[in-house]
Amino acid sequence: MTDRELIAIAAGMRQYAYAPYSRFAVGAALLCEDGRVFTGCNVENAAYGSSLCAERCALVKAVSEGIRGGFAAIAIVGSGADHCWPCGACRQMLYEFAPGLRVLAANREGAYAVCTLEELLAHGFGAASME
Ligand code: THU
Repeated sequence: MTDRELIAIAAGMRQYAYAPYSRFAVGAALLCEDGRVFTGCNVENAAYGSSLCAERCALVKAVSEGIRGGFAAIAIVGSGADHCWPCGACRQMLYEFAPGLRVLAANREGAYAVCTLEELLAHGFGAASME
């Protein structure tokens, strides 16, 4: 799976976004090392704080299927001209299961930039922090 292919899957998920409040549709695709892909979109709520980002949607779909590790990359495609980097809550949630994850942040045209999650969440708090 190439970066471009993963981004195309994430872009395709934008059509399922439920974003009547922000009008900012986001799609995500989480790639496992074995080639499986878990997808997600943002799901908003009238109580705005109860809204869910596309990245956490994809992650919890994987974890709820018993997949807790072996994640290789996540692609995120937003509706803006800027790359759609994950919010702080998503960085923290992803860090729990995949601190070394490659993060592909794309804009609405599919142009993208790459970072590791450890770069995005420096000195992150994880299970090892409580040992
Ligand atoms: N959003 C995501 O789904 N992922 C991101 O990386 C950034 C923001 C969503 C949350 C909300 O539904 C909308 O985009 C505007 O913030």
